[in-house]
Amino acid sequence: HTHSVSYTHTHTVSHTHTHSMQTVTLIPGDGIGPEISSAVVKIFEAAKAPVCWEERNVTAIKGPGGRWMIPPDAKESMDRSKIGLKGPLKTPIAAGHPSMNLLLRKTFDLYANVRPCISIEGYKTPYTDVNLVTIRENTEGEYSGIEHVIVEGVVQSIKLITEDASRRIAEYAFEYARNNQRSSVTAVHKANIMRMSDGLFLRKCREVAETYKDIKFTEMYLDTVCLNMVQDPTQFDVLVMPNLYGDILSDLCAGLIGGLGVTPSGNIGANGVAIFESVHGTAPDIAGLDLANPTALLLSAVMMLRHMGHHEHATRIQTACFDTIRDKKVLTGDLGGSSKCSEFTADICHRIQDLD
Ligand code: IPM
Ligand code: MN
Repeated sequence: HTHSVSYTHTHTVSHTHTHSMQTVTLIPGDGIGPEISSAVVKIFEAAKAPVCWEERNVTAIKGPGGRWMIPPDAKESMDRSKIGLKGPLKTPIAAGHPSMNLLLRKTFDLYANVRPCISIEGYKTPYTDVNLVTIRENTEGEYSGIEHVIVEGVVQSIKLITEDASRRIAEYAFEYARNNQRSSVTAVHKANIMRMSDGLFLRKCREVAETYKDIKFTEMYLDTVCLNMVQDPTQFDVLVMPNLYGDILSDLCAGLIGGLGVTPSGNIGANGVAIFESVHGTAPDIAGLDLANPTALLLSAVMMLRHMGHHEHATRIQTACFDTIRDKKVLTGDLGGSSKCSEFTADICHRIQDLD
C-alpha cells in the first residue's frame, strides 16, 4: 500500500462544512492531561471544528454493592454524546481501584482498539515508511480480570476468549481494511500453545476472511511478528489480535515511529460510540509546567473528527501538526526541541489559520 499519511477511519467523505455543532465528552485526565486537553481545545477552535466540549472528570467511585464505576455525570454525558476524547488517567499498580481506562472500555463496550502507526516526516527514528494499524480485541482475553488464589502461593488468571468477541473484532478488522484502502489483515496469535483460546480466535478470523476475498489474509505467531516487525515493519498492514498481544505489540509499533507521545488511539464500540485517547502516561514529573507534548491526544482527536465525518477539519489539523513537526523550529522537549506546550500549540494554530 502507499504511504498515505492519514488516520482515516470511515469511507464517508463530507465536502461541506457542517454548521451544527456536535457535543463531545472531554475527559482531561490526570497529570499533564489538562494541559494537553486545553491545547487540543485551542487547536479545534483555530480550525473552527464543529465540536462543542462537555468536560467531565473521571475518578474511581464505588457504587451500590461496592462495585467500582465511573462517575454518573461522565456516564450520562457519554450516553448522550456517544463520542469521547480522553487524556491519560493514572492507574494504581496491583492495588486500589481498577484502571479507569479499562472501566471506560468495559462500561461502553468499546470492543475494538485501533492504533495507526505511521512514520512522521521529519521526526527521525531508526525506521522509515512505517504504515500499519494494530486492531486489538478490547473487552476480554487476559484483561477479563478473573483471577483467584487456588491455594496459598498459587494463583490463577483466566484468559477468556469467546466466539462472539473474536468474530466481532475480526469483522471490524476486515471492515476497517476495506474502508481505509488497506490490502491485508494479519491475525496475530499463539494457537500453537494456547490451542483452545487462540485456536478459537484464529478460527473466527479465518471464517471472516472467507467473506472478505478482496483483502489478503495471513496468520502469524506473535513472536514471529515481533521478530519481523523490528527487522522490517513496512511488510505489515492491518494486524488483528487478542487483548494483551495488542497491548504489547501496539507499544512496540509506537516505538518504531517515535513513541507513545506521537501515537493516536481509538476505542470503538457499536452504533458509533467511541472514545479516542492518548495512550501515554500522566507524566507527573512535568505536570503543570507547560512542557508536555499534546501530539498524541491531538492525533487521536483527528481520528475522532474522521470518525464523526469531519474529514476536512481533520486533514487541516493533521497537516498543520505535521508541518510544525517537520519544520523543527517549535518542538517540545520530548521531540528534541525546547519549546513550551503552549508555543507548540500556538504554532499549529497559526498554520491552521494560514491554511485557510
Ligand atoms: C493501553 C494502556 C492500558 C492497557 C492501561 C493504562 C490499563 O497500557 O491503553 O494500552 O493496558 O490497556
Ligand atoms: Mn498499553
